[in-house]
Amino acid sequence: MTMQTRHWLSLKDWSGDELNELLDLAAQLKANPLAYRPLEGKTLAMLFHKASTRTRISFEVGTIQLGGHPLMISAGSSQLSRGEPIEDSARVLSRYVDGIMIRTFAHEDVVRWADYSSVPVINGLTDLYHPCQVLADLLTIREHLGFGLSTDRPWSSLHVAWVGDGNNMAHSWIYAAVALGFKLSLVCPEGFDPDADIWGDAQSQNERISLTRHPHDGVRGAHVVTTDVWTSMGQEEETQARLKAFSGLQVNDAMMTSADHNAIFLHCLPAHREEEVSTGVLEGQQSKVWDQAENRLHAQKAILARLMGAL
Ligand code: CP
Ligand code: NVA
Repeated sequence: MTMQTRHWLSLKDWSGDELNELLDLAAQLKANPLAYRPLEGKTLAMLFHKASTRTRISFEVGTIQLGGHPLMISAGSSQLSRGEPIEDSARVLSRYVDGIMIRTFAHEDVVRWADYSSVPVINGLTDLYHPCQVLADLLTIREHLGFGLSTDRPWSSLHVAWVGDGNNMAHSWIYAAVALGFKLSLVCPEGFDPDADIWGDAQSQNERISLTRHPHDGVRGAHVVTTDVWTSMGQEEETQARLKAFSGLQVNDAMMTSADHNAIFLHCLPAHREEEVSTGVLEGQQSKVWDQAENRLHAQKAILARLMGAL
């Protein structure tokens, strides 16, 4: 175990200044995608216990563009599937590779990987957090609205409205609001609030994080309206109950009219049209979801370069 190794597990562990540095680096790498090779001779192991399109492909392509080698480890064909402990697997993988990216269910599992790994561990989504996605979302907001780029538009003047489940994405938004000091309004149906410990911790640090049941109250004046699927991976048996509980929370044209005139719409994808978002909003002028998806690549290259490549 190396105490000094820096991991990317939650935005909770990263300060506002550090996030701004990562965003600057992401913008630098985006401007010259093939100009930097800080991962030359280095290998990133990637482990997925859940499905993925964006995370898997952007990490694989990003590692290659930075001069490194991505190594997909299929959980089902490794000894992990036969019960080899995370603690042992982490120490063994640390002898071969220079970084480990994991997408899994329990967040505690990623923490165990980090505790026993001597190389950086990157959270590619757990049931609790999705920090890679929110870093890409912040990059998208910076590019489209200019927040965080100048003293005229500090992060503290941003208002983000989260509409939907108090899930892994919501938790990462909450810690982004803590780190950067922006206003975050969550609109969640009763029974689907964010984790109580995260909520208490965040509210004690940023009192402009609020929760309402009424979409128009949360969205009013927001610069960014964002949502996610109502049923996350691993919750499939709750689909029917969730469809009922979240009805009325669809982000559609009527909801977007409550937001700022220049508001943008973000969604981490995959999206379910006519459930959490109308086709009109997803495909409309305010939607920046394709730029947002592209930014997964640039933001993650910044994470890889910072953690594994000393850029
Ligand atoms: N947004 C996101 O993480 O997408 P994937 O599940 O396709 O990786
Ligand atoms: N909340 C969703 C995000 C998918 C990228 C899930 O965990 O399935």
